[in-house]
Amino acid sequence: MSVIILGIESSCDDTSAAVIRDGVLLSNVIASQQVHAEFGGVVPELASRAHQQNIVPVVDTALKRAGISKSDLTAIGFTRGPGLLGSLLVGTSFAKGMSLGLRIPIVDVNHLHGHVLSHFIRREENDPVPEYPFICLLVSGGNSQIILVRNYNDMEILGQTIDDAAGEAFDKCAKVMGLPYPGGPHIDRLAAEGDAARFKFAKPHIPGLDYSFSGLKTSFLYTLRDELKNNPDFIEENKADLAASLQKTIIDILMDKLDKAVKQTGVKTVAIGGGVSANSGVRDAVADYCKRRNLTAFIPPRVFTTDNAAMVAIAAYYKYLDRDFCRYDEVPYARVQV
Ligand code: KG4
Repeated sequence: MSVIILGIESSCDDTSAAVIRDGVLLSNVIASQQVHAEFGGVVPELASRAHQQNIVPVVDTALKRAGISKSDLTAIGFTRGPGLLGSLLVGTSFAKGMSLGLRIPIVDVNHLHGHVLSHFIRREENDPVPEYPFICLLVSGGNSQIILVRNYNDMEILGQTIDDAAGEAFDKCAKVMGLPYPGGPHIDRLAAEGDAARFKFAKPHIPGLDYSFSGLKTSFLYTLRDELKNNPDFIEENKADLAASLQKTIIDILMDKLDKAVKQTGVKTVAIGGGVSANSGVRDAVADYCKRRNLTAFIPPRVFTTDNAAMVAIAAYYKYLDRDFCRYDEVPYARVQV
């Protein structure tokens, strides 16, 4: 009999529901919240309220697009953390209520596992998936980690940021340039037109596989502050070159440690995930790197780079096969590691 999983994601500011049958995606619906744009960041209370408004129609649409009814579902997977607690409570409570109503199990999913496992979402029966072990570079607004993935439930963090995440470096520098939130996609767009060799920004010198982005942020800020003293139009006149140089520096930092991790572990497959893996430069750099070294690269379709319920459903699918269910007295967690 088929295993049909409904996935629910509500950890931050996207309300999403997806349906997966035997590992193959049937639907993936995402309602992004626009209310935060004017505040320059996600406002937790507004996010929780918007999830409350969105969750019923989003789940309904996901079921309809999948062409199934509630009674066909085998289990419900939901993001239990990390994320904003109020947002997580909406998805968790909804999943519990629905599972009680349908008398089917719930499966809790670590959001970060979801990002890593997004490479196992198949859109067609024969789509390739990574072979274990592989390395996943997980880069988002909250995380920058190099993870050794031995199995769906066996992941080891080899390195991670000791301060800002890569996404924060994009967003904070973009903010200094006067770009809207989140700035990452704007930097990406501008960088395509700019000269990446024009400006030099600081790169960290920290041992091992850990990352640091706070020095780069400060160096970017100081460059702008100094230049603006002489020319108030400096940012406007140089925005493409600034974006391209910033993006290149972030990519160099990411690739340096990724290369070390590959050499250290001897893995043959490299994957990327998280919001920053939507970045054109990051995608190209990882693809080129893997090609040169004869490694297999898994670059996710852009729809699976940001928060989505398809990745929650696939992670729940593997846990379901192991009968690893969640109890009703389990609660969401705001913080957790892989
Ligand atoms: O994974 P995600 O949607 O949310 C969490 O942080 O959990 O990642 C959001 C981050 C933001 O920092 C955003 O600026 C960044 O991903 N991002 C990008 C791009 N698209 C999204 N950064 C650089 N280039 C992009 N194209």
